[in-house]
Amino acid sequence: MLRRLHHDQPKTFSFTPANQAWAEAQMTKYPDGRQASAIIPLLWRAQEQEGWLTRPAIEYVADILDMAYIRALEVASFYFMFQLEPVGRVAHIQICGTTSCMICGAEDLVAVCREKIASKPHQLSEDGTLSWEEVECLGACSNAPMAQIGKDYYEDLTAKRFGEMIEAIKMGQTPKPGPQNGRFASEPFSGLTSLEQYANARAGENASVHLAQTQEDTLRRIDGTEVPLVTSWLSGSKPETPRVAKACVKSAAKALKAPEADNAKSTGKKPATLEVARNSGADDLKQIKGVGPKLEKHLNSLGFFHLDQIASWNEMELAWVEENLEGFKGRATRNNWIAQAKELMSSQQPDAS
Ligand code: FES
Repeated sequence: MLRRLHHDQPKTFSFTPANQAWAEAQMTKYPDGRQASAIIPLLWRAQEQEGWLTRPAIEYVADILDMAYIRALEVASFYFMFQLEPVGRVAHIQICGTTSCMICGAEDLVAVCREKIASKPHQLSEDGTLSWEEVECLGACSNAPMAQIGKDYYEDLTAKRFGEMIEAIKMGQTPKPGPQNGRFASEPFSGLTSLEQYANARAGENASVHLAQTQEDTLRRIDGTEVPLVTSWLSGSKPETPRVAKACVKSAAKALKAPEADNAKSTGKKPATLEVARNSGADDLKQIKGVGPKLEKHLNSLGFFHLDQIASWNEMELAWVEENLEGFKGRATRNNWIAQAKELMSSQQPDAS
């Protein structure tokens, strides 16, 4: 398909302050002189902000990365993930039309798009909210036929279910992503034959679906009202959190924390926990071997912020912690966190001599 810039372009583009800070932070991931490597995430961010990729946006990104405009345009026009013309205000639906999906009913899905959105691909629906196109394999062939809507995949579709989903989006809802026929992932439809212990690990949602549900990210625009992405490797560069984003942070934190608190299991004895870190600030729990950023966050969500809390666990309390380490069970014992915490504390004591 011919991919070229849209005939009707806005005059200017600039990132929102939060997106600008995010873009600059992305560039620090690459060695000096290699900032052009950030082209894809920056173009994607521009598209997330505006809905589609305009010529001023491509040039703006090229300027930031010190690239010739033509180099940035080559990238933007090569990848189908970049929309070079206006798409539906709410969602642009990409139907996979490659072999597996075609055999399993992609043509029926295209027919639904023609009926409910617009007769031609890349044509906006009458109210401007939706658009669609057929794309090449999106890599979810074992769940064919499928479509990408916003940031998420909708798999194991039928024309009926797909039609219902479009109606739901028209009414302002976001259908739950993932397989639409009750499958957890791409296991046999008749049920698991192996790894059965992982079935319905998180209330029947696979990890991507869980993320989409808790962060409501599927159709969200990145326009300055979202939660800024924290770039932990750049201390002090975190952009000012907008007011709406602060509310999002709170609700996202609540959504992420609630299941953990509710699901806290009662094996062993729950150690003393804290609501928040003491005034001196939380200790860097990542000093403990086996604790990475994710696990540190999880420990904080369970109420552990300080080395002395960990150093004081007894055997029953360690058992409780292990039970509540979700995907990291066994790690606290295996890496002997209690002894490590004690050792770190004693090495941090001021020298008495
Ligand atoms: S053929 Fe459709 S996802 Fe691969």
